This record gives sequence, structure tokens and C-alpha cells, in this order.
Amino acid sequence: MRKRILIIFSVILILLCAYIVYDSAIRMNKPNEESEIEGKDISKEEYVYKEELLGLGYTVEEVSIIENTISNVDVKNYLLTQKYNNLIAFVSSPYFDITKIERYENYYAKKPDYTTDEVVLYVEIGLDYEFYTNIKEITNYTDITTLINKYNILPKDATFNDLVSVPKEYSIGTNKVRAVVLDPLKQMIKDAKKDGAKLSVLSSFRTWNTQTTLFKNNKKKNGEAHALMYSAKPGHSEHQLGLAIDFNKASMKFEGTKECEWLKQNAYKYGFIMRYPKGKEYITGFAYEPWHYRYLGVEIATKVYEENITYEEYLVKYKK
Ligand code: DAL
Ligand code: ZN
Repeated sequence: MRKRILIIFSVILILLCAYIVYDSAIRMNKPNEESEIEGKDISKEEYVYKEELLGLGYTVEEVSIIENTISNVDVKNYLLTQKYNNLIAFVSSPYFDITKIERYENYYAKKPDYTTDEVVLYVEIGLDYEFYTNIKEITNYTDITTLINKYNILPKDATFNDLVSVPKEYSIGTNKVRAVVLDPLKQMIKDAKKDGAKLSVLSSFRTWNTQTTLFKNNKKKNGEAHALMYSAKPGHSEHQLGLAIDFNKASMKFEGTKECEWLKQNAYKYGFIMRYPKGKEYITGFAYEPWHYRYLGVEIATKVYEENITYEEYLVKYKK
């Protein structure tokens, strides 16, 4: 009897040991959730997405590109509800952001002449929104690289404690700029003079109230469409940053003058960019203003000049 009990007990023990060994072998082989997402291991989860992507109508080749370029988490969060016809083209853009896939598709449908790379770049700038919509208030506005445009607004109570007066020999009337701008500005005006180009600051820092009056007066005089292209609404002007300068005369009479040409060739060397260039109105939202320059420092200004891009494009290309 005792022998029989011993045999039964030994069999149970052997079975229990066998189960423990089997179970731990299974656990060791199963990838954990984290590494499944991080890596590209074939896992149960990835297999499910593959099937679902194929089910949505993507080809085997397209699914393979998606697998290699978009993480499992992003596929799960953004790609499983519908098929995006141009996904594979958008994915190859260096600025591609999966969270904006729907905006890319919608904007491309509206602007079929753009390349898919352009669509991604312009959506990143925000151009798929009408100007003066989707407006973001900028809180770190004292930063010298602050972007103010038709999508970015300054707080109404924005103040700067580093405004300095432009000495009268460099200015038409009273004008202020941020301290960091003064020395490069003076140096630029002096060097231009040596080349026979007479530059003077016509308008630089503006308060919220001044910008309000300017916009209103422009609208009254020239109509709303013109005002919208040439004057920023209050809060949307770089002049309110104390970093923008209008030189000599703020009209197209400036175009073709020696001063205008000198600025075009040399301003970047002192850290200034022509902020509203010809042909880029659809990006900046403003008409060509050859008299309006923005201080950004030599490094950024040189890049913008050499690549013939707007500050909006620069920010997408180099800041993200
Ligand atoms: N003229 C430019 C756009 C401004 O008003 O700031
Ligand atoms: Zn200006």
C-alpha cells in the first residue's frame, strides 16, 4: 500500500516538474509588449496589423513599407480606420508626421499640383488652414527666433525690457529696436554707406495700438484685401517683436533703388532676412515687401539667404 502511494506521489511530482519546465520555456519565447513595439520582430500583434492593412486595400509591397517606416503603435493609432491613398508617397518626406496624415490627404486633394513633399512641408507650416485661423498664442516671445505670422499671435500684454532707441543718424524720426539688433543694424548702415547706399530706419518697434491704427488706416485707404496683404493685424506683426525694420520707404518705389539692391545682397551678413520675398506670398501670407527686414542673427539669416527660403520653411527644415 505504502509503495503504491509512493509511486502515485512520484508520478504527480514528475508531472508537476514537467509542467513547470514547459511553462517557463513558453514564457521565455514570448516577446514582451515593449520590445514588440520597439523592434521589428514578427509578433502576433504585427501580424494582425498586416492583415488589417491588407484588408484596407494596401498592397503587400505597401504593407512592407508601412512596417519598415511606421511603428506598430502609430499604425494602430492612425492607420487602421481607412486607407490613405498617398500614404506611401508622404512617408518618404523628411518632415512626415503620421499624426497629420489626414491633413496631408485633404490638402493634397485641394492642391493636386503640389508634390507630396511640398504638401508635407506646407502642412507642417500650417498652410492647410486659412490665414488668421488656427491661431496659437506665443508665450516665449522674447526669444530672438520667435515666429510671428498669420498663425502665431503675441499676447496683448507682451512687453520687452530690452528696447533701445535707434540713434537719429540711423533713423527717420523716433524708432526703437531690441538691444541685440542695434549694433548689427548700425554696422550694416555704416557699411552700406561706404558702398554708396543710404539706409535709414523708417519703422521698427510698434506697440499693439500702433499696429491696430496702421491696419485700420490701411483698410480705410486701400480696402481690406490690400490691407490684409500689406499690414498685419495687431498681435501678428514682427514689428511688435522689435526685430523687424522697414528701411527708407515702405512702398514699391524702394524696389530697384541702390539701397534695395544692397540689402538684398548683404543684409544676411549682419543677421537680417528679407522676410516677405517675391513669389513666397502663399507661405508668408504677405505681399512682397523689399523694404521689410527681420533680425534673426547671422547663422539663421545666412541659411535662409543661401537656400532662398522663408523663415517658415527654415523652421520646418531645421528646427524640428
Ligand atoms: N507690413 C508687415 C506685414 C507688418 O505689418 O508687420
Ligand atoms: Zn515692416
